Amino acid sequence: MRKYVAVLSAVIFVIVAVVASYAVDKQPPIFPYESVIKHMPWAAGGDVRYHITIHKPYRKWAQWPGKGEMYPGKEPHGAFLTTYVNEAALDSIKKLNGMADKSIIVKENYDANKTLMAITVMYKVKGYNTDGGDWFWAKYDPKFNILAEGKIEDCLKCHGSVKDNDYIFTGKVTGK
Ligand code: HEC
Repeated sequence: MRKYVAVLSAVIFVIVAVVASYAVDKQPPIFPYESVIKHMPWAAGGDVRYHITIHKPYRKWAQWPGKGEMYPGKEPHGAFLTTYVNEAALDSIKKLNGMADKSIIVKENYDANKTLMAITVMYKVKGYNTDGGDWFWAKYDPKFNILAEGKIEDCLKCHGSVKDNDYIFTGKVTGK
């Protein structure tokens, strides 16, 4: 009887091992951390902050094409601005077809003395706010505390005046 159990266990072990190795073999050939690399933040101030400061630090991104560091800005943002765009946003700006899903724009707002006052962010999240161009808005202080986030009425009201340009002031991003 004991011999029978031992043989049966061995047979089951072999079957499981073969099936398991086959299953592992058949997994799609992806880099294991691909899902992490592609991770985009939730439309939430804290998650966006993590994404733009630690996961994909925005200061390593491209700046808005044609705008250098500390270009002059208007009210309410600040006397000087530096604006960074992620790859999706940069690509969209070049295509003039509206801003694609996953576009992020990070703008540093400086006063007349070139002191950083706030960081304002627009993040395009498909389906997030169909009445407002699907933009998630966030405002942080210079220490990256969240001052406001979400479908911020104040931001939407003013940027709504350039709705035809996908709520963007800084440059033309649509063919309209
Ligand atoms: C009274 C109008 C007004 C309000 C309110 C406003 N903005 Fe803006 N925003 C502008 C203007 C004008 C620009 C173009 C840059 C400049 O000249 O200052 C701009 C530019 C931006 C940009 C760069 C991309 C673009 O649209 O050109 C971001 C990001 C941004 N604003 C975020 C915000 C956020 C977040 C809020 C709310 C917390 C907000 N803005 C509130 C007028 C406004």
